[in-house]
Amino acid sequence: MCGIVGYVGPSADGKALDVVLEGLARLEYRGYDSAGVALVDGDAVATQKKAGKLANLRGALEEQPLPASGTGIGHTRWATHGGPTDANAHPHRGGTDGKLALIHNGIIENFHALKSELLEAGVEFTSETDTEVVAQLLAQAYDGDLTAAMREVVARLEGAFTLLAVHADQPDVVVGARRNSPLVVGLGEGENFLGSDVAAFIGYTRNAMELEQDQIVTITPEGATVINFDGTPAEGKAFEVTWDAAAAEKGGYDTFMEKEIHEQPQAVGDTLLGRTDEDGRLVLDELRISEEQLKNVDRITIVACGTAAYAGMVAKYAIEHWTRIPVEVALAHEFRYCDPIVSERTLVVSISQSGETMDTLMAVKHARELGALTVSVCNTHGSTIPRESDAVLYTHAGPEIAVASTKAFLAQITACYVLGLYLAQLRGGSYADDAAAVLKDLHEVPDKIAELLGSMDRVQEIARFMADTRSVLFLGRHVGYPIAMEGALKLKELAYIHAEGFAAGELKHGPIALIEPGQPVFIVVPGPDTPHGLHGKVVSNIQEIRARGARTLVIAQEGDTAVEPFADEIIRVPATSPMLAPLLTVVPLQVFALHLSTAKGLDVDQPRNLAKSVTVE
Ligand code: F6R
Repeated sequence: MCGIVGYVGPSADGKALDVVLEGLARLEYRGYDSAGVALVDGDAVATQKKAGKLANLRGALEEQPLPASGTGIGHTRWATHGGPTDANAHPHRGGTDGKLALIHNGIIENFHALKSELLEAGVEFTSETDTEVVAQLLAQAYDGDLTAAMREVVARLEGAFTLLAVHADQPDVVVGARRNSPLVVGLGEGENFLGSDVAAFIGYTRNAMELEQDQIVTITPEGATVINFDGTPAEGKAFEVTWDAAAAEKGGYDTFMEKEIHEQPQAVGDTLLGRTDEDGRLVLDELRISEEQLKNVDRITIVACGTAAYAGMVAKYAIEHWTRIPVEVALAHEFRYCDPIVSERTLVVSISQSGETMDTLMAVKHARELGALTVSVCNTHGSTIPRESDAVLYTHAGPEIAVASTKAFLAQITACYVLGLYLAQLRGGSYADDAAAVLKDLHEVPDKIAELLGSMDRVQEIARFMADTRSVLFLGRHVGYPIAMEGALKLKELAYIHAEGFAAGELKHGPIALIEPGQPVFIVVPGPDTPHGLHGKVVSNIQEIRARGARTLVIAQEGDTAVEPFADEIIRVPATSPMLAPLLTVVPLQVFALHLSTAKGLDVDQPRNLAKSVTVE
């Protein structure tokens, strides 16, 4: 939530504005309620900021250009305190001399008390934000050393924040601070960068540095210096970004989401890559948790939000089936408040694309306090949740720019399968034999997704015909149930249509009352060889709703003829083993939501009111 960029390079080059705007364009997925920049300009700081998307800021900069500068900061906002107006857009100024500007990602929880204090002292405010309070405090604390002033101010702040500040009296300096919000450093040649994530500077350098919690970083053209909030010197952890700028561009597709949907075979393949030995056995040395500790696990709790939580629901079915270890899935924001039952034999698995979701981070911290072993399934190197966990299993989906998740979801499911199969392998005996067979099937899935993506024309047509539809229902059972939920979420997010996902068995217990003639219903049908006769039961569910007039859009495995008499539309997916089906059945639902959104003329990549990384609770 909120994207921030900082840059400092040779003032003679004067490229701060270009670098900052490029960074903001790559970070816009983090929030797009407003955008703004501040550049050091002689003995003052020049700013421009505008409500709405980055395009509005660019328009304003064309009308009123800012001077060339070697030092600047920029912000793209997801509004928390104060509506999305020009006045509330960042940067915010501190003091009255026009020399200091500050941007912020997060929430300052004690800002009311701090603001009252400043108001009493006669400070005037121009916005409703918590951020302006920090800018004013920083201006008061400034006495020739911006780093020292930042140290003084962060000691007074409660909450989560990343702050970046510039001061005209120190023209070659940008100072950043972080607590519970992301900030990474980009290390260039004679220029340095700060960003909410590496996308901010990937066009310039792949050399990056992670910061710990509660640290302050000062960048100049020559280097980056890190200290802890208590003033002691610290070292950042250097790492190299494994993807390049092209990965964060549309590459010929109309939208990032379309591109990311097409990258799914690779996302799944890359998440499997390098995790088996020559005998086909899983090797997860990277976990850095001993086999003994993992063998000792008697309970698993998965914590996640939104789409990631649906990945967790798929994982529950799979891991319980393969290992017979009880698995519970908790929405991360509820976990802490339900007095969770956790012991040192509990493995708490967090799932997060961004690695920054505050609800999930807090759940992980709580689990650790309670003594659990914590593993993070995460797509973002250097992010907070893996750092706060005992171990991490990275998904390798590459950067996901579209706000609504697609390829990260498939990679999360894949990583959870890998974890479950690894636990089964450790258990040995028949568990290990079953795991080996599933793993073999799993390696075939990327090609099947690619094949499926080649046959989506009819789904696109259906989406276009349904552009005026007001409500769509989704049904599924077993691992198809979370897929029904995910199909509904994608449609809500992208097309702003009322959509609900149900467990098909639940239908008769209430939701069937929603069925009226013409009501479109997607049904995710389990493969015919799914145990417990589930396939037959879902076919009966289709008949029940069709008898009441529903328009049935059936997602069924190739060769499944039993659904044919009851389907208004059949969308075929390649056959695979029942537990792995979600990696295929979700794809048509993603494509459907994407094309329905496009047919309605909506912004697929940046749906209204959303932000990619939800870094507030
Ligand atoms: C939906 C979506 C969200 C995220 C959720 C968790 O398309 O993207 O529901 O899945 O906000 O985000 P991460 O995975 O970054 O923790």
